[in-house]
Amino acid sequence: MNGMEARLRRIIRKETGRSLVVAVDHGMALGPMTGIVDVKTTISNLDATNTIDAWLLTKGIYTYAFEPADRPGIIMRASGGATIVGPNLTHEGITSSVKEALYLGADSVAVSAFIGSEFEHQTLVDMATMATKCRKWNVPLLGVMGLGKTNEDKKKDPRFIALGARVGAEHGADIIKTYYTETDFDKVVAGCPVPVMIAGGPKCETVLDTLSMIHGALQHGARGIVMGRNVWQSPHPAALLEAVEGLIHRNFSVKEAAQLLEERINS
Ligand code: 5RP
Repeated sequence: MNGMEARLRRIIRKETGRSLVVAVDHGMALGPMTGIVDVKTTISNLDATNTIDAWLLTKGIYTYAFEPADRPGIIMRASGGATIVGPNLTHEGITSSVKEALYLGADSVAVSAFIGSEFEHQTLVDMATMATKCRKWNVPLLGVMGLGKTNEDKKKDPRFIALGARVGAEHGADIIKTYYTETDFDKVVAGCPVPVMIAGGPKCETVLDTLSMIHGALQHGARGIVMGRNVWQSPHPAALLEAVEGLIHRNFSVKEAAQLLEERINS
């Protein structure tokens, strides 16, 4: 086994080849949003469910608000520098280094690229440059494929999402995080040579919608989730995580997952 394989194993569970990653990196651009205002408590409550394979977080949260009981996988965000109140949320740059990630004890780094946006070129070059550095140290790179506000309508277009996933892999990402498309998601996966995981996006209307989205993605070849709002903005985040873990690692149907969720809520 080499360092890349060892670190990937801390992110993707060997037994199932899938992963449940909870993202709590939103504050870097959106501030203290509902569900992660007290991010330390959110992390500790979710960690207590023992369902999470890895966390996606920033160096600030990792350093000051992250106290898991065990030693889950850690994906440290290495791009940022733009906020919701600034001129352009897609104008990200590199905010950390592989050396810093290793020094802090992270297993992987994450960099965003915004396909179709004004900053597509710069963010893709940043992703590729970080991939080169990651490879030198056998650190897996999570490619976070963003779209930018002007492309929001393309989120559901499988051809656009497939293009983004493939482009991320071609620029050196070892895992791709992108959006689930209700149609042709299998084509997104088929066109991407590295594992594809889905983000949640804004909160779904119902938890059943969240479970169905995750189930649909898994059925079409996704290797798991890197999800934030749909988890920690849910009225019952811990119970939901147990149900989601059933979908990802125990091949639950949506019905089985919903039943477990109901049981946990009522227990
Ligand atoms: C924020 C991100 C998030 O990590 C990603 O979008 C996953 O979170 P959500 O499920 O809430 O979309 O990249 O900058």
